[in-house]
Amino acid sequence: MSGEGPVRVAVVGAGYVGLTTAACLAHLGHDVTCADVDPAKVASLSDGVIPIHEEGLAELVREGIAAERLRFVVGAAKAVTGAGFVFLCVPTPQGPDGAADMSYVEAVSVEIGPLLEHDAIVVNKSTVPVGSTRVVERALGRPGVAVVSNPEFLREGSAVSDFLHPDRIVIGADEQSAAISLVELFGAIRSPVVVTDPPTAETIKYASNAFLATKVSFANAIANVCEAVGANVREVVLGMGYDRRIGSEFLRPGPGWGGSCFPKDSAALVRIAEDAGYDFGLLKGVIEVNTRQQEAVVAKVVEAAGGSVTGKRVAAWGLTFKAGTDDLRDSPALAVIGRLVAAGAEVTAYDPTRRDPLPGLSVSSDPYDACEDASALVVLTEWDEFRWLDLGVVRSRMARPRIVDTRGLIEPAAARRAGFVLSGVGIP
Ligand code: NAD
Ligand code: UGA
Repeated sequence: MSGEGPVRVAVVGAGYVGLTTAACLAHLGHDVTCADVDPAKVASLSDGVIPIHEEGLAELVREGIAAERLRFVVGAAKAVTGAGFVFLCVPTPQGPDGAADMSYVEAVSVEIGPLLEHDAIVVNKSTVPVGSTRVVERALGRPGVAVVSNPEFLREGSAVSDFLHPDRIVIGADEQSAAISLVELFGAIRSPVVVTDPPTAETIKYASNAFLATKVSFANAIANVCEAVGANVREVVLGMGYDRRIGSEFLRPGPGWGGSCFPKDSAALVRIAEDAGYDFGLLKGVIEVNTRQQEAVVAKVVEAAGGSVTGKRVAAWGLTFKAGTDDLRDSPALAVIGRLVAAGAEVTAYDPTRRDPLPGLSVSSDPYDACEDASALVVLTEWDEFRWLDLGVVRSRMARPRIVDTRGLIEPAAARRAGFVLSGVGIP
C-alpha cells in the first residue's frame, strides 16, 4: 500500500454494491480495479454499459473509465495485486435454513489470500452473519492483513447518492489504525462515523434492515386495522410521522416489503438469534405480517374481479420490488401476480423497466394495452408515472371498472369521476 500516487483499490463483485463502490471511489480520485466472475458483465462494463437501472451510475462508470481511474477485470486475483484496500461485495444469499450463505465470501477470501500485499486492508461490505470477519481472516490465511467490517446501507434506485451522502459510515475493526485508514480513503464523504468492533458492526447492519422492515410491517398492520375500523391509513401515518421520535419514512403501506435484502436479512437475523439462544418472536411476527399482506392483496384483487379470477384477465402495473430499479428479486409484485396466476388469472403486466415476458405472464410495453378486457387492475409498484395516466382511457379498455391500488397513487376523486370502484390498502 505504501508508495507514491493515488491509493489503489480493488473491488470484488460488480453488482449493486460493488459497482457503486467502485464507481464512487474512482469519482473520489482513487485508482480502482473492479473484478467480477461474469465475463459478459466485465466486457459490457469496460465499454461503459451498465447492466442495471441505477440513477447516475452509468455516468460515474464512464467518468472513471475516461479518467483511467476505473477498470474492470475477470476474477478477483487480477484485481488485488498491488491494492491497498480490497472491498468484498459478493452475494450472501439466503441458504435453505434461513442463514446467509457465506460460500461466495469464503471462496473469494481463499482465492485472494496468498496474493494480497502485506499491508493490505480487506474491507467486507457484503451483509454477513455476526462473526464473519473472523471467518474471512481464517479463509485469507494472512495474519498480518487487517480485515474490517464496513456494512453498506445504500438503497437500490438511489445507490450513488446514498454512497456519497450516507447517513453514517460504520466501521468494525480490531485495530484503530485500519479504521483510520478507511476513514481517510472515504475522505471527501461527510458523515458521522461509528467505529466499533467487527461483531457490533455486523449486527448494526442486520438490526437496521430488520428495523426498517418492522416499520413497514407496522404500517401494513395498522392499514389492516384502519380497514376494519373505517380510518384512513395515509392520514394515520402522516399524523404519526410528524412525531420526530417516530419519523415519517418507511411508513408507507403497500403490498409488503421485498427486494434482494429485507427478506433474506430478516430471515438471517431470526436464525442468528436462534443459534445464539434467543427466540426473536418480534421479527418472526414482522415477517408473518409481510406474508399475510401479500395474501390480503390477492384477496382484494379476487374480490374486485367479481369473486374469482379463474379464466379472467387481470392487469398489473408494476413488477419491480419498488420504483427506481429494474430489480425483480423477491418482488412482492411478482409474489402477488404468481398467486393470481395460480388461481387461474390471465395476467398482463406493465412496468417501465421491463419488456420481456416472464413465466406465466405476458408483459406489455404500454400501460393501457395491459388493461385490455381486464376484470381488475392492480397497482403494485410505486412508479410515479402511474399517477398521471388517463383513467378515462384505462376505463374504456377494461371489462370491469375496478382498481386495487396497493401504493396509494391513484387519486380517489379522479377514479370516481372515471367511473371506477377503487380499493386500496388501509383506506375505507
Ligand atoms: P449482486 O448479486 O448485485 O452482485 C454480486 C456480484 O458479485 C455479481 O456480479 C457476481 O457475479 C459477483 N461475484 C460472485 N462471486 C464472485 C467472485 N468469486 N469474484 C468476483 N465476483 C463475484 O449483489 P449485491 O446486491 O451487490 O449484494 C452484494 C452484497 O451486498 C450482499 O451481501 C448484499 O446483502 C449486500 N448489500 C446489498 C445491497 C443492495 O441494495 N443490493 C445494499 C447493501 C448491502
Ligand atoms: C434496503 C435498505 O433500505 C438499505 O438501507 C439497505 O442497504 C438495503 O436494503 C440492503 O441491505 O440491501 P432496498 O432493498 O434497496 O434497501 O429497498 P428499500 O427502499 O428499503 O425498500 C424495501 C422494500 O420495502 C420495498 O419492497 C419497498 O417497496 C418497501 N417499502 C419501503 C414499503 O412498502 N413502504 C415504505 O414506506 C418503504
